[in-house]
This record gives sequence, structure tokens and C-alpha cells, in this order.
Amino acid sequence: MNKITVLGSLNVDTTFRIKRFPEPGETVHVHEKTSAAGGKGANQAVAAARSGAKTAFIGQIGDDGAGKFMLQSLENDNIDGSYVSTSESVGTGTANIMLDENGQNCILVYGGANQKLTVADVKKAEPVIKDSDFVVAQFETPQDAATAAFQIAKANGVTTVLNPAPAPSTSISTELLKLTDIIAPNELESASITGIKITNEDSMIATADKFSNMGINNLIITVGDKGAFYSTQSDRELIPAFKVKAIDTTAAGDTFIGAFVSQLKPDFSNIKSAVTFAQHASSLTVQRLGAQPSIPKLDEILKVENVQ
Ligand code: RIB
Repeated sequence: MNKITVLGSLNVDTTFRIKRFPEPGETVHVHEKTSAAGGKGANQAVAAARSGAKTAFIGQIGDDGAGKFMLQSLENDNIDGSYVSTSESVGTGTANIMLDENGQNCILVYGGANQKLTVADVKKAEPVIKDSDFVVAQFETPQDAATAAFQIAKANGVTTVLNPAPAPSTSISTELLKLTDIIAPNELESASITGIKITNEDSMIATADKFSNMGINNLIITVGDKGAFYSTQSDRELIPAFKVKAIDTTAAGDTFIGAFVSQLKPDFSNIKSAVTFAQHASSLTVQRLGAQPSIPKLDEILKVENVQ
């Protein structure tokens, strides 16, 4: 069983179901409003845990009901929440998600306590980071917190996975890139970092070369319903997606990351099957509503694996 530590965000999501996205200045009717646990970091931890990994979480909540709810949802999935600190000045993160009838979403995130996570908070989690196989981070928490976690990881032989989501508004620090073993963007995040638009396999190979020049030799790009491309020093392949009818793509990318690291061997020798497993997991997520409620458990993923 892989041991995973995820550093990242905890958000309470409110999803507004609408027919289509509004134009600027337009008002549209919401025909359903629901709330659920979310946040890219927490979703990835839940996906890892439900896929069978021993999982711990580093993050920050506010001193409020939403924070207690988020902590409880980690506990419900047997995720070690001992390294979730509480901000006394700012509330728990929230996300407002517009979901259209094609299953596409637009998300507004209020970072709140997620943005207050400090290097000192991360240092307190040194024991759990050292004891992990993989440490995973994204960009809904500060970059210097991710850098501190990756420094501890790399000093102790732990593999680091960076999911640069949402696409950073400032450049990624060279220190963080140096400490990253695998980078896993979606096509838009990838283009915003490298300047290379993902259009076909050639552009994916060019992207892998560009990341190599930045010091990261292992890349996975998720390309929505086209599938996922992986590239290591010895192997690269675009694995097509499974055709399913998506009703809500929220947390599909997070499910992919969490499920992927739950299966990956630290020498990456099974990367292709770990990517395929992650695709099966996220193909289930997109067929259900909400972030964490839609993330599948191991037995459900294995059922899909057996059918494909
Ligand atoms: O990736 C999906 C997540 O993004 C949602 O759960 C929401 O909280 C935002 O962080």
C-alpha cells in the first residue's frame, strides 16, 4: 500500500446547476443548488485514500463550521488530519461552481485559510512527509508551503508530484521546479507554463522536452476526453480516454492524480497501468455530481478495470 501525503486546499463547494454559462452582465436561473466537500488538495487525498493508499493531509481550515465539516470529511475517509492547522483570522476556503447542462464547469475559489498555510505549518509535518512514498501539492495553497514540503521530501528520498492547478498567475519558482519529480498539469495549465498549446501528440512531446529543460523529466498531461499523455526518460504514450457521458467534470482531474499516486511504484515501472487505473477512476467521477461525493472507491474502479 502506497503512503501518500497531500499538501493542499480544503474548500466547501457550492454547485449551481444552470442551463448555460451567463454572458457578462447577464442573469441566469439556477435550477439546483447543492453543497459538498471539495478543494483540489482534499479531493486528491480522498481519491488516494479511496483507491487504497494510506493518506495524510497538510492544510489549513478556518475556526468555523465549514472547517469542522472539512476535517470530518477527511476523517470519514481515514485520512490523517493531524497536520491540518486552524487559522484564527480567516475562514475556511469556499468554491462556487457553475455547472452547465454539458457537464462543464466554471469555478470561483475563495482561498481563505488555504492561503494562510505557512512554511512553519509544513515543517511540523516533517515526520509524516519523511514516512511517505509520494508527496503531492497543487496551487490552491502558497507555493512556498509546497516548496518546504518538497524540500523535506527530497532530503528523505520521497517522490514529489506537482499538480500545477489552478494555472499559476505568477511564474513557478525555479526551486519548486527543481524539487519536482513528476509534473501533472491539464492541457491548459501545461500551455500556461510552457507556452506550448496542446493540439496533438507532437505538441505533447515538445511539452515533455520543455519540462525536461526546466529540470522535470516525468510528465503527465491530462487532455480531457482525449485521454492522458505520460512521458518518462524511458517511455512515453498517449492513452485514450474511455468514452462515458460526463454530467459533472468537477474533481475529475483531482481523482486522476490521487488514484494515480495510489498505484504508482516509486521507480515508475508501472506508470502505464497507474495512468490507466487513474483514467478508470476519473471516468467514474465525471458520471456523478459534486466533488468528493463523486470520487469512486477501489472496488468500483476495479470493476471498471475488469470490464475494459
Ligand atoms: O478541482 C475541483 C475543485 O476545485 C473543487 O472541489 C473546488 O473546491 C476547486 O478547488
